[in-house]
Amino acid sequence: MSKVVCKTKRIGGGFGGKETRSAFIAAIAAVPSYHLNRPVKLTLDRDIDMMITGQRHSFLGKYKVGFANNGKVLALDLGIFNNAGNSLDLSLAILERAMFHSDNVYEIPNVRVNGRVCFTNFPSNTAFRGFGGPQGMLITENWIQRIAVEVKKRPEEIREINFISDGTLLHYGQLIEHCTLDRLWNELKSSCDWLKAQQEVEQFNLHNRWKKRGVAMIPTKFGISFTTKFMNQAGALVQIYTDGTVLVTHGGVEMGQGLHTKVAQIAASSFNIPLSSVFISETSTDKVPNASPTAASASSDMYGAAVLDACEQIKARMEPITSRHNFSSFSELVNACYMERIDLSAHGFYITPDVGFDWGTGKGSPFRYFTYGAAFAEVEIDTLTGDFHTRRADVYLDLGYSLNPAIDVGQIEGAFVQGLGWVALEELKWGDAAHKWIRPGCLYTCGPGSYKIPSVTDVPFKFHVSLLKGAPNAKAIHSSKAVGEPPFFLASAVFFAIKDAIIAARAEVGCNEWFPLDNPATPERIRMACTDEFTKPFVDSDFHPKLSV
Ligand code: MTE
Repeated sequence: MSKVVCKTKRIGGGFGGKETRSAFIAAIAAVPSYHLNRPVKLTLDRDIDMMITGQRHSFLGKYKVGFANNGKVLALDLGIFNNAGNSLDLSLAILERAMFHSDNVYEIPNVRVNGRVCFTNFPSNTAFRGFGGPQGMLITENWIQRIAVEVKKRPEEIREINFISDGTLLHYGQLIEHCTLDRLWNELKSSCDWLKAQQEVEQFNLHNRWKKRGVAMIPTKFGISFTTKFMNQAGALVQIYTDGTVLVTHGGVEMGQGLHTKVAQIAASSFNIPLSSVFISETSTDKVPNASPTAASASSDMYGAAVLDACEQIKARMEPITSRHNFSSFSELVNACYMERIDLSAHGFYITPDVGFDWGTGKGSPFRYFTYGAAFAEVEIDTLTGDFHTRRADVYLDLGYSLNPAIDVGQIEGAFVQGLGWVALEELKWGDAAHKWIRPGCLYTCGPGSYKIPSVTDVPFKFHVSLLKGAPNAKAIHSSKAVGEPPFFLASAVFFAIKDAIIAARAEVGCNEWFPLDNPATPERIRMACTDEFTKPFVDSDFHPKLSV
């Protein structure tokens, strides 16, 4: 490994798909390269890429929930299954994160969670933003919504009375501290004017038969750290040159998430120099070896801390010179240090403290801390076509003292819209017993013509993103919190708002009992769930179109 240098300038987005699945493409290119003794470049066509490189895992959740008449949850017995495909890849870790997140933000006194990775004849599924967490939480929100129907209350009421708070012991033994969930929820409630929003939707639904509106508020908590302990380590190399410029190299990969900007900011503020004096050229295995994947949203926490460690080492070495003179510029100080033969290069290292989980006992603290969030969505559906649009979305995130609010708001907007694709648009259809019109085993939705990703028209008409103020996080660099994956799940507010609208449509024909709605809520599913005189001759009210899983 010491003879092979891997360099990455940046990648054009990864979202998990390149975490491990880049390796087999690289290996395919390496074989002819070795035999022909020349560089070989391999680029997959979009459809081939979609067919073979694996997707987000589909999940199945089977639950038994015990609850009191007021909706207070007493016990959960949960079985979770994920479709790994034909190799293990990251499926076990993804299943584990789903199990850790299967309480979402709720205090459940008695919990049993069993997880199973399913070995199937699909291409191997892999990491995607949230890494199983969103699937675990979506199962939770489904049974919360079901309790609400049973006790004839709004799901938001059931959510509120079951919230975790400081002192809650989670089902895997981690203690909740510095929980900002209540604050986020209340701020969201007043920003979206929750009561008024519900009343307006009710009024609209009263006066419209074929268009219905729905609203939902969804909370989230996302555990920050790799659940595999050894991966929580990070290295960095900081080098100062005699002109006062700084070259930073760290083990993280830039993929558009703004990691290099945040890390450069940390170095710049440490040396008290302008950001323009700090440069990050690339990620390279000959500068920082044995890097963990840039994943789990923790890279700015970890590489930021590793870089800070290196900066502080250099500053400590410079200290005797700094204290002796008043320098007019950083470059003057650096030059003076250079003349005194002070080493201006340092390797920094960081390990996330106090994390670990014992799968033998099922107890531990796998996460350093949690990023909390909450979102409101209002949608309008066309009950005859199943079409929908998101009229409004408000998203609140607790990011501590954000390292860079502009980047973080961009991450939240991006994650929400990406999540909207997950809950309402993007469906894979494979040739199987339920889809006989597709050749067996073939992926039909392998390009933009049939696989619908969010476009500009899917962005909520009104879209507000806010960061919680005055909530520093003592557990990460400069009191910040990780942002990359946590907001993704909040798009499920759109899913549950769609379900709320469907509930209103079904009420028109006297259908008031709970019904299943599979993810994603595509037009086909929305239309068929809106039971009416047109669907009744063909299907029962609990019909749900089959998924390809
Ligand atoms: N943002 C952009 N623009 N492109 C990406 O590929 N990946 C997401 C998130 N934000 C991604 C992104 C995922 S899946 C993760 S885990 C984090 O960024 C990884 O980077 P971080 O640890 O620096 O947050």
